[in-house]
Amino acid sequence: MSESLKPVGVIGVGWVGLVTAACFAELGHPVVARDIVQEKVDSLSRGEVPLHEPELEDLLRRNAERITFTTDMDELLAGAQLLFVCVDTPPTYSGDADLSRVRAVVQELPEDSEHVLIMKSTVPAGTGESIRRDVPSLSYVSCPEFLKEGTAVKDFMNPDRVVVGADEGDEAAADAVEELYRPLGGEILRTDVASAEMIKLASNAFLATKISFINEIANVCEEVGADVGQVAKGMGLDARIGTAFLRAGIGYGGSCFPKDVSALKMLAGNTGYHFQLLTSVIEVNELQKRRVVGKLEKHLGSLIGKRVALLGLAFKPDTDDMREASSLVLAARLQGEGAEVVGYDPVAAERAGSLLGSVEMATSAMEALEGADAAVLVTEWREFAALDWSAVAERMARPLLVDGRNFLDPEALIKAGFEYEGIGRKVSSPRAATA
Ligand code: UDX
Repeated sequence: MSESLKPVGVIGVGWVGLVTAACFAELGHPVVARDIVQEKVDSLSRGEVPLHEPELEDLLRRNAERITFTTDMDELLAGAQLLFVCVDTPPTYSGDADLSRVRAVVQELPEDSEHVLIMKSTVPAGTGESIRRDVPSLSYVSCPEFLKEGTAVKDFMNPDRVVVGADEGDEAAADAVEELYRPLGGEILRTDVASAEMIKLASNAFLATKISFINEIANVCEEVGADVGQVAKGMGLDARIGTAFLRAGIGYGGSCFPKDVSALKMLAGNTGYHFQLLTSVIEVNELQKRRVVGKLEKHLGSLIGKRVALLGLAFKPDTDDMREASSLVLAARLQGEGAEVVGYDPVAAERAGSLLGSVEMATSAMEALEGADAAVLVTEWREFAALDWSAVAERMARPLLVDGRNFLDPEALIKAGFEYEGIGRKVSSPRAATA
């Protein structure tokens, strides 16, 4: 690979920043990655990866010589002209995006900086324009990131589309960004900055809407005896609808959907427009996590003193990310009802442990299930499909399972002796299952 490729700067080495750094290095670019947390920079420099993301560790190891990790802004500014901003923009108490980390980055730039600032962090529409006003010598490009945790490297390397937003005067900067992405394939869409910012928020809000929609359909399916899996399949075969993101369950979580839906709702609200639909999307998502309690009570009556095992704690499989994980709300609700909660996750136990202080942590699924009055499958880790459910049924005090992700085979579970509850799933009676 040629070292004559343009150096790339990355600011903030969280999920997006680290994947961006690793992938551009893999494409042959020298990369300078800067973070303000010394500990993180030190451990990355030693080759330790602070998060669970398939393929990432290999990629970083393979390209270690091309990537420099540093806390020094001057080293970054000297090392690269193109700077990807990948700091987080968490929600504030009001639900607006907290832009303090983005602002702090801009404040650190020299007043006469002629760098190209490429915004990957998700920011409200209008942010780019205001940064451009504050540092007029800068070039500014909005290039939102659409990668998913758990498949981040694959998503980065095979984008459906790359959005490159730039305003008048920044065409050359946008060309440079386009050039960086061209080897990856995928359609490159050139827009103005505000539209690029909106594309990111609107995409995530739309996907979240699909999830809340199918979750409400699942709730109706339960009432009318229909099966949400079949309904989603039948809907998805319509090319205008599509099958993706129609998996019913106990709600979406993670670092993006909850925050971006709320940020878009607040962005609209700040302009005086009430985004009615998103208010419902958020409410449905909250209620969906709580419906599990009702399902357990249907079988167990009061939950006081009942031992409930949570299988999976991360917000989704193949990640140890606990941000906005359904398990957090669920554990608190169950404890609020007087249940004793035990949790297990193959990779997120350490992160979960510090957030779920009063939840007992098991070191295996079987340990969590031993003696439990009920289990809730919260995260669809593959290892749960491979469990010997007949053996589990014998070890639980009561073989009752709420499958919060419609992940397991209901008939097999019933055959193994379980009372099975899915989300909007039509489950045959034990009689039919064993016939
Ligand atoms: C999301 C977007 O997909 C990505 O484009 C953006 O860059 C960041 O936000 P991510 O948060 O990593 O990615 O997770 P994703 O795989 O999209 O899942 C989000 C949540 O939705 C998870 O909690 C998942 O369990 C839930 N989900 C997803 C459903 O409940 N049903 C579905 O059909 C799909």
